[in-house]
Amino acid sequence: MSTVVNPGLEGVVVGETVLSNVEGEVGRLTYRGYDIHDLAEHANFEEVAHLLLFGHLPTHDELGDFNRRLASRRALPSGLLAMLHAVPRDAWPMDVLRTATSAVAHFVPHRPDGSHETSVDTAVDLIAKFPTIVATWDRMRRGLEPIAPDPKLTTAANFLYMRTGEKPIPEAEKALDTYLVLLADHSYNASTFSARVTASTGADIYCAVTAAVATLAGDLHGGAPAKVMTMLEEIGLPEKAEPYVRDLLARHEKIMGMGHREYKIRDPRAAQLEQMAKNLTEKSHTKWYLIARALEDASNKVLQEAKPGKRIYANVEFYTAPTLSSLGIPSDEFTCMFACGRVAGWTAHVLEQFSHNRLIRPQATYVGPEVHPYEPIGKRHGQNGATNGKSAGANN
Ligand code: COA
Repeated sequence: MSTVVNPGLEGVVVGETVLSNVEGEVGRLTYRGYDIHDLAEHANFEEVAHLLLFGHLPTHDELGDFNRRLASRRALPSGLLAMLHAVPRDAWPMDVLRTATSAVAHFVPHRPDGSHETSVDTAVDLIAKFPTIVATWDRMRRGLEPIAPDPKLTTAANFLYMRTGEKPIPEAEKALDTYLVLLADHSYNASTFSARVTASTGADIYCAVTAAVATLAGDLHGGAPAKVMTMLEEIGLPEKAEPYVRDLLARHEKIMGMGHREYKIRDPRAAQLEQMAKNLTEKSHTKWYLIARALEDASNKVLQEAKPGKRIYANVEFYTAPTLSSLGIPSDEFTCMFACGRVAGWTAHVLEQFSHNRLIRPQATYVGPEVHPYEPIGKRHGQNGATNGKSAGANN
C-alpha cells in the first residue's frame, strides 16, 4: 500500500472540535454554532470568551461574574514586571509576549494540577493578562511607566487605556472589541494545533499557550498584518497599488494578507474589519483604508491574470493593518493583538484536548540513507572529504 505524504496536512482531518467551524467554500465562520457576523455585531469579547470556555453565551449575572473574575486577574505580578524591565528595549513585542507567557507560570501560587477547575482558572488568568503584558511592554519600551489596569473597563477599553492613560472614544473601543471577537477562534489553525499537540503530551496550559504564541509569530500566520502595513506605507497612494502588486509578483513574492488555506472566497472576517477600517480612518483622517481598498482591488485583478483558478482573496490580516494602525497601535505589535484575541480560543481548545486526550503523534516517511555500517571516528570523512584530521588534498 502506498503511503500518502502530506507535508502541510492540507485536507487532513486530525481531530474534532465543538468550538468553531470554518466553512472555506462558502466563507462562513461560526463559534459553537453562532455566526461570526452576529457575534461581531451583538456580543463583546468577554461574552465570546465565556462562550468558548464555558459552552454558552453568559446571562447578565454570569457576565458580571466573568468580568469581575477577568478584571481581578489583569495585574502583572511584580516579579514578572521586574523580568520585563530586564528585557532589551528593542526586543520585538511578540518575543516579549512569548517570554512573558512562559514566565507568568513562575509567579502563580500553584501550577495547574490537571483538574478542570485549575485549568479553567489558568485560562482566565492568561486571557486577562495578555493585554496587560502587551500594553506594559508598549510603555516600557517607550521609557514610560506602565499604567495599572482599570477593573471598570472592558478588555478592549482597558487595553487602549493602559497604552495611553486615556479612556478611548466609544468607536475605538467598539473597533478593538470587534477585532478581538473576530480573532478569538479559528478551528485547527497552526497555533491552535500547536497548543493542542503540546497539551496532548500532558504538559500544562501555560506550556501549551506558550507554544501557540511561538507558532503565531511567523509571517504565514499571525505575522502577516505588520507586513501588510509595510506594503501600505510603501504604496503611499491608492493609484500606485497596481504597479506595486505587479512588481511584487514579478519578483515571485506573496501579497501579504491575501490567500488562505481554508477560505476559497473572501475571508468572512475581512468584511467586518474593512468596515471598521473605513470608519476609523475617516475619523482619524488617515489614508490607510483608501490604500488598502485599492490594494485589494489591484491584487484581485493581478492575481486573476497571474494565477488563474488559484482563488486567492483577502484574509483576516488584510484589514487588520489599517484598523489597528488607526487605533494608534504600532505595526510591530499587531501580532500581539492577534494573540490577545486568540488566547480565548487557544485556552478553550486546550481544555477540549484535556477533556478527551490522546497523544498527537503523526508519522513521517523516512527518505534518508539505507542502513549502513558504523564508522569509527578515525575512519570518518568530514564535509570537505578530510579524514582523521588531515585535509582532503594532503596525499599522505
Ligand atoms: N500572494 C501571491 N500568491 C499567493 C498568495 C499570495 N498572498 N497566496 C497564495 N499564493 C499562490 C502561491 O504562490 C501558489 O502559487 P503557485 O501554485 O503558482 O506556486 C498558490 O497560490 C498556492 O499557495 P500556497 O502558499 O501553497 O497555499 P497555502 O494553502 O499554503 O497558502 C497561505 C495559504 C496563507 C500560507 C498563503 O496564501 C500566503 O502565504 N498568504 C500570504 C500570508 C498571509 O496573509 N498569511 C495570513 C494567513 S491568515
